[in-house]
Amino acid sequence: MAFSTIRYMEWAKTREVLPGEIDLAVSNMPTVAETWEELGIDPSEIPPSGPNSYGYEAARRAIADRYDVRPEEVMHTMGASMSNFVFLAAMITPGDRILVERPVYECLSAPVEALGGVVVPLVRREKNGWRIPVEDAREEVRNGAKGIFLSNPHNPSGQFSDDDEILRLADAVGHEPWILVDEIYREWLDNHYRRTIALKRPNLFVTSSLTKVFGLPHLRAGWLIARDDIIRKAYRALDHMAVVQPFMYEWVTAQVMRDDHRLRRFRDDHRSSTVAARAVVDEFLGGPHGNAFSAVMPDEGGFAFWRLRNGDGDRFRDKLQRQGGVGVAPGRYFGTPNGFRISWTGGVERARSGLAAMGRFLDEHWEG
Ligand SMILES: Cc1ncc(COP(=O)(O)O)c(C=O)c1O
Repeated sequence: MAFSTIRYMEWAKTREVLPGEIDLAVSNMPTVAETWEELGIDPSEIPPSGPNSYGYEAARRAIADRYDVRPEEVMHTMGASMSNFVFLAAMITPGDRILVERPVYECLSAPVEALGGVVVPLVRREKNGWRIPVEDAREEVRNGAKGIFLSNPHNPSGQFSDDDEILRLADAVGHEPWILVDEIYREWLDNHYRRTIALKRPNLFVTSSLTKVFGLPHLRAGWLIARDDIIRKAYRALDHMAVVQPFMYEWVTAQVMRDDHRLRRFRDDHRSSTVAARAVVDEFLGGPHGNAFSAVMPDEGGFAFWRLRNGDGDRFRDKLQRQGGVGVAPGRYFGTPNGFRISWTGGVERARSGLAAMGRFLDEHWEG
């Protein structure tokens, strides 16, 4: 078992933002709470210790109530990443073939490999609107795949599969393989606010957190929703990593998660500016420079994956940063080097100036 470098993670944590660079690379909503007051918590009330041997009951209950499941079906972890890892650690036997979507946020595929699983790419194709290839999944499960791991909305394309599509996948592959859906971007979508696909079939499990849509990346409030027998297995796996999790953060999570009004406010803080920024992106794609890219745009959300029609997408992204002063996320970190993820969660002004700079770069520096 080898924990290889996750290149995306290293890039995300250490990437150089050049002076004056316009950043269209990040998928988070901007942070909403820099202070305790903004978070709506009085720090003097936080108990430094409490009962949390197998999770703090009030935090599990707050998450369960929000998603209409039972507390026994919830594990609260430090971020969706930790839920993903603990779930995989509980479920993978070395040698298991696991279908993992491609393009892929690298942090979904890397832990499968680290835990001894064999990653079988489940290729979403641009020409099919990046949709989930249900027939390919069915075929691979017939050939013995033990699990399926995908994100919905999909990082990096932003495409959302509605419940019917996910249930079609679940029904096509049957109840044997597990299906883990990372829903970290889901509650951004208005029609799907507060909803989840978790447990709509006995093998359909979900992870998520408050990192992205709610602008609280440093709270590390994440969770796994799964059948209670799987949650018990996951806690046994967690016993290999930590005696307990920090009580203080579990307590804060319980307060934040049980207050839907506050969560909606956090989410809506940046939502309208992101919706307005999307119009700027559409305008760019409809204008003289739009043809340079092949771009299947999602109906909603804050990012998309664009491919370059002419030339090497990786080289384009690197030159765009150095000569054009615009940062986008390299496709190579999603297993798809000929494109890049572009985000407009930074609002209208940033999208406008970033895309104008991209247009100038195409005119002045890019020869294909
Ligand atoms: C699909 C997906 N899952 C999980 C994460 C990380 O989540 P967290 O900060 O809750 O660990 C990201 C961050 O980019 C992501 O894109």
